[in-house]
Amino acid sequence: MSDSNASIRSLEPGRDRRSVRILDQTLLPHAVETIRLETVAGAAQAISGMQVRGSNLIGVTAAFGMAFGMREDPSDAGLENAFESLVHTRPTAVNLRWALERMRTLLKPLPTRSRSKAAWDEAVAMVAEDVAINRAIGENGLELFRKLLARKKSGEPLRIMTHCNAGRIATLDWGTATAPIYLAHQAGIPVHVWVSETRPRNQGAALTAWELGGRGVPHTLIADNAAGHLMQQGLVDAVIVGADRVTSRGDVANKIGTYLKALAAREHRIPFYVAFVGGSVDWTIRDGVREIPIEQRNARELTHIQGTAADGRRLEVRITPEGVVARNDGFDVTPSRLITALITERGTCKANAAALKRLYRR
Ligand code: MRU
Repeated sequence: MSDSNASIRSLEPGRDRRSVRILDQTLLPHAVETIRLETVAGAAQAISGMQVRGSNLIGVTAAFGMAFGMREDPSDAGLENAFESLVHTRPTAVNLRWALERMRTLLKPLPTRSRSKAAWDEAVAMVAEDVAINRAIGENGLELFRKLLARKKSGEPLRIMTHCNAGRIATLDWGTATAPIYLAHQAGIPVHVWVSETRPRNQGAALTAWELGGRGVPHTLIADNAAGHLMQQGLVDAVIVGADRVTSRGDVANKIGTYLKALAAREHRIPFYVAFVGGSVDWTIRDGVREIPIEQRNARELTHIQGTAADGRRLEVRITPEGVVARNDGFDVTPSRLITALITERGTCKANAAALKRLYRR
């Protein structure tokens, strides 16, 4: 596959210091189109409509939304209105609230005349910060990969399974789950990625396959239902996924289907890693199954499927009986006991309250 998409960024701040360009991820891999955002409403719409998605990117886009809000109305009321318009756009990924609270804490003590510039500068700083912390996750994860590789025969590829897209386009670059994969590939370590999430949104098929292909990383798409079988056949060395919210004891919400992979990995004694940034930790909750709100998405994502016809037309077709009742939970929770290690920008640790607290010195 070509490397033509290798340098396309998920979000670029405009030189005009009043807008950003986002990659419209709802069109991938069929079309590569960008959209200009410059209003709070536009940023909120892009997040809720999943033109931008992935926990890190949602957070940074929301920060720019606050910057747009401060240009529209820098008063205290304007600040709260922008916050409220953005904070409910996606319920599960906690980076959204983290980024908005960071902006509010910075902006509130400032005189209104300084808020617009300060907000823009902070959002831009968050772009560079996200790239750097994801790279740090990559370095920490690479150490774990090297240990796994040492147990294999020389020349055999490390076979990594991932789920959904916690890749470079779910972030500002590198991704979380993909960062160690990209670094391993760059270092000449043979890696092969099993790519999944073929339902309900096809984010493995549409997004992860697109970005891994663009950077030349060997990969194979599998149906979600094939994951357990491949593990049973001894074809998987490790599973690595991202996170939308991590509780203080290390329970992890991620794209629906993650939990099933963790269960299968435990049965087959395959390491199951979760990679995330500090902004994904919700220190206010402990029990993820009981306390993390799970986004309920439109049933149409299940009853219909989108694609490109042979003549290039984009189509959406129904695959179910008309009027079928469908339930579409967007995420599930993997309890910490099923997780081998957490991989963060601060290092790696066991998935438990004490280890996570030590890592973030809280
Ligand atoms: O619904 P999405 O596309 O926002 O969900 C994405 C995921 O579940 C990712 O794995 C997660 O956000 C981590 S991305 C750094």
